[in-house]
Amino acid sequence: MKHRYALGIDIGGSGIKGAIVDLKKGEFALDRLRIPTPRPATPEAVAAVVKQIADHFAKELGDGPIGITVPAVVTHGYTRSAANIDPTWVDAPAEEIFRTALGRPITLVNDADAAGIAEVLWGAAKDHPGLVIVTTLGTGIGTAMIHKGTLIPNIELGHIEMFGKDAEPQAAASVKDREELSYETWATERLQPYYERLEFYTWPDLIVVGGGVSKESDQFLPLLNLKTPIVPAKLRNQAGIIGAAWLAVDELANPDALKEGASGSAKGGKKKSGKGKKG
Ligand code: BGC
Repeated sequence: MKHRYALGIDIGGSGIKGAIVDLKKGEFALDRLRIPTPRPATPEAVAAVVKQIADHFAKELGDGPIGITVPAVVTHGYTRSAANIDPTWVDAPAEEIFRTALGRPITLVNDADAAGIAEVLWGAAKDHPGLVIVTTLGTGIGTAMIHKGTLIPNIELGHIEMFGKDAEPQAAASVKDREELSYETWATERLQPYYERLEFYTWPDLIVVGGGVSKESDQFLPLLNLKTPIVPAKLRNQAGIIGAAWLAVDELANPDALKEGASGSAKGGKKKSGKGKKG
């Protein structure tokens, strides 16, 4: 790996957090910096905060890569959805907006994809040889699918159908808080049917549960009755930053040929492809 260090930045609903990541160890090399998310959180406003974070770490980062997570589908530099973020992210050329603001290339990835690959490389699913689904339970439900170490990006399984409706607004951790559900009610009435469906559609070998609520996992994971082993995430709120940094370095080795400007690109970057191959 050419770059041992990269900057990972995680864009969340309330804070934008960044840290230099040591990719040999899979951990922060320096304390992270957190800046509140601007309102409204448009791509341009967020890019200005991301620049402040990049400037803060400029000396340590040098010409190292920058990976940035967003809570949205990301295909070839474009953000495609906005379930829990400002609607202006839909179909925004977000990577280009960030590149212009920072004056250097960046790699933009889905937040759950970043957390997922980090859990497989250094966390609860370290070196797992099979099919791992990582779910992040927070404001929304993020999901990542990693098969034999290779990330299949943008698997939006938080939005599968449950009781005739989108699962996310029924089962996310924010719903537990909003509806003041006990851990038991949330686990048995919301998470159990959600994870049963997830199993039925994807047949994973391991399910990892991340998101802030995962630190209380002993209150709800033992109540679930599933075919698949289900374990709490290990890297907690560092996973997105660590995974973003790793995916930025990975993109240098495995460039996205469908990105606009790349050789062999499909103009508009509208197609999907696998990325994030380990190695
Ligand atoms: C979005 C996903 C995102 C997840 C967690 C969902 O609403 O559709 O893209 O990964 O929230 O932020």
